[in-house]
Amino acid sequence: MLYSEKVMDHFRNPRNVGTIEDADGIGEVGNVKCGDIMKIYIKVDNDTISDVKFETFGCGSAIASSSMATELIKGKPISEALQLTNKAVAEALDGLPAHKLHCSVLAEEAIQAAIKDYYDKNNIEYDEEIFASLLRSHDEEDE
Ligand code: FES
Repeated sequence: MLYSEKVMDHFRNPRNVGTIEDADGIGEVGNVKCGDIMKIYIKVDNDTISDVKFETFGCGSAIASSSMATELIKGKPISEALQLTNKAVAEALDGLPAHKLHCSVLAEEAIQAAIKDYYDKNNIEYDEEIFASLLRSHDEEDE
């Protein structure tokens, strides 16, 4: 089968769908090639992601990736959430087909964008380097 049971489960029954009205950070990213968009909302308490929700206008793998990624960072310190890679998301889903790996990249980027937004809104200093991949992919989008 092309998709694992876990991908199908998170696609059919996605966790943490929705928005957070008084979100502390919001990250929106998109993939220019497929046109899919992912938006992540986070609540932060004591440097911990106390709540997270997502809206994804995209393919099934993107929805499954958002669902799994939000589950992986919920209740975790920001420092851990920042380290979540698309590879870890894909592994937690028991794999994604190669041409669908970019869908899990959106989840990694959307989380990073939400954390960056939280830092920016609260004037929290950070090393730009931690968001380097995010800035790079945004540059590409502008081209
Ligand atoms: Fe682009 Fe899945 S096909 S996010």
